[in-house]
Amino acid sequence: MTSQTIPVEPFDFVIFGGTGDLAERKLLPALYQRQMAGQFSEPTRIIGASRSKMTDKAYRDFAAKAITDHVSSDEIDGKELQRFLQRLTYVSVDAMSGTGFEALKQALGEEERIRAYYLAVGPALFGEIARNLQKHAMVSGQSRIVVEKPIGRDLASANELNDAIGEVFDEHQIFRIDHYLGKETVQNLMALRFANALYEPLWNSAHIDHVQITVAETIGLEDRVSYYDKAGALRDMVQNHMLQLLCLVAMEAPSAIDADAVRDEKLKVLRALKRVNGAEAPKHTVRGQYRAGASAGGAVQGYLEELGNGRSTTETFVAIKAEIANWRWAGVPFYLRTGKRLAQRVSEIVIEFKPIPHSIFGENAGRVHANQLVIRLQPDEGVKQWIMIKDPGPGGMRLMHVPLDMSFAESFGVRNPDAYERLIMDVVRGNQTLFMRRDEVEAAWRWIDPIQDAWEENRQDAQGYTAGTWGPSSAIALIERDGRTWHESG
Ligand code: BG6
Repeated sequence: MTSQTIPVEPFDFVIFGGTGDLAERKLLPALYQRQMAGQFSEPTRIIGASRSKMTDKAYRDFAAKAITDHVSSDEIDGKELQRFLQRLTYVSVDAMSGTGFEALKQALGEEERIRAYYLAVGPALFGEIARNLQKHAMVSGQSRIVVEKPIGRDLASANELNDAIGEVFDEHQIFRIDHYLGKETVQNLMALRFANALYEPLWNSAHIDHVQITVAETIGLEDRVSYYDKAGALRDMVQNHMLQLLCLVAMEAPSAIDADAVRDEKLKVLRALKRVNGAEAPKHTVRGQYRAGASAGGAVQGYLEELGNGRSTTETFVAIKAEIANWRWAGVPFYLRTGKRLAQRVSEIVIEFKPIPHSIFGENAGRVHANQLVIRLQPDEGVKQWIMIKDPGPGGMRLMHVPLDMSFAESFGVRNPDAYERLIMDVVRGNQTLFMRRDEVEAAWRWIDPIQDAWEENRQDAQGYTAGTWGPSSAIALIERDGRTWHESG
């Protein structure tokens, strides 16, 4: 089965931070893949911009290496790669001093066309770049700006950033990336919920016992020391990715799959999240920080040693019992957990249905488990619907809990595009459905800020957990207190 590719109009793609980590690992490989898939129309141009002085040739060499390092070798075609590299040029731009913007303007030329400015730089530069683009008359109705998280570290700083960008670009031109929304299975969640008659009638507090959302990583700090230690897991993962997943599970059916209809519904969920106040924080939230242990097959240092700072209190793990105060979800806890250096790399959403009201089977039949719908984002994207069946064969009526298994990659034999491939093409098309609107970002911070404040006021410490485990024991207690357990990923 082949995937269908609809070409987009010709565009210019300007990468600020063009020689940085994101450009290297994600953006250039994603653009190359989209060209390979036949999605570009000509002439499409890619312009790297950053402070370093570099020739076009040196930038093409950088891109060629990025692609060979990050795209699997069987997907690299020498001729296509050369064709791709010919699209690339480089301009040296310093956002703070404003130098280089005239040169960028020259490189872009006068023609009115789709132009995406991708800010793969720290948020401190967002406002400066936007202002410089305006000052040099490089913003037209066809321009879009793409920003990466972190969009602030709290509501106030998020507002400042959004104001600065909003002075130059209209909301419909601003694409705030949350790469989780570009993941295949995340979109499948919408298909599952709204293209099937089966689930929606059961999708509420009458039939669902609770929801678990886990985003577990085995990696540690990597080379992001200065950013991560100031952010911590709550800001790095929960404010954005985890809350977006929660929204897609919990939202009402939008009237259409268009940007504002979907985002209106997500916003309602964010606004309905029950505030976790100071007194509740110790019962509803857990902070952890990894200690030395073993992860991904080898011995690893603890967070503090990796950081080289014995005093940091930043959390590398969070678990939260969240509640949504509305008719559909009253009384249904959403247990969220995310962390670095955990036992396994796995991101999944588990919907646990209520148990059957009464079992007609005797004790010999075994336990009747509640139905579970497990939506696996990574690795091995897919959906498993766990149901009870009769243990096949003779021997009386014994029950088994088995999954109806849909492993997408296997079933469809299609390469799953990286989230950035889809999201970049959506930017070019001007489709904002999978991007966060300003009010969503604000609503997310309005829920996160009180948790962060409560942690500071209560001096709620991050509890140590051994690298390679599932986090601090209090995270297990958080759910077991309610008579439930974390789903064991297979
Ligand atoms: C990023 C976080 O947004 O998402 C990282 O800043 C994290 O800390 C990453 O590792 C996880 O993304 P993925 O796609 O690998 O699950």
